[in-house]
Amino acid sequence: MTGVSPAVPGLLGLPRDYLVGQLGAWQTGLRQAFAPDCMAHVAKRLAPADVAAVSSWLAAQPLPADAHPAPPTREPLPLKCGLSPQRSGGAR
Ligand code: HEM
Repeated sequence: MTGVSPAVPGLLGLPRDYLVGQLGAWQTGLRQAFAPDCMAHVAKRLAPADVAAVSSWLAAQPLPADAHPAPPTREPLPLKCGLSPQRSGGAR
C-alpha cells in the first residue's frame, strides 16, 4: 500500500502535546465523533501514563517517505467508525 488510507488520520508528525490534548479531549467528551465514536472507546481505556507513552512514541517517529493520502476509494473501510461533524460538512 502506498500513502495513508482515506479517512484514516495520519498520526506521525503531530506534536506530542497535540496528541495528549486530543486523547484527553475524547476522555472528557470535549471532542466527539459521530457514533460509533471509536476513539472515545480507545481514549477512555488509556490511563494517564498510557496517553503520555503513546503520544511521546508517536511524536518521536520519523515521517515515512510517502505520507500522502491514498486516492479515494469506494472500498468499504475495514472498521466502521463515525466521522467528526466538521469533517463531513455538518454543523459544529
Ligand atoms: C492507542 C491507539 C490509538 C491512538 C493513540 C489513536 C490516536 C488518534 C488521534 C490522536 C486521533 C486524532 C488525529 C487528529 O486530530 O488529526 C485519532 C483519530 C481517529 N482514530 Fe484513533 N487512535 C488509536 C486507535 C484507534 C482505533 C483502534 C481506531 C478504530 C477502531 C481508531 C479510529 C480513529 C478514527 C476513526 C479517527 C478520526 C476521528 C474523527 O473523525 O475525528 N483509532 N486517533
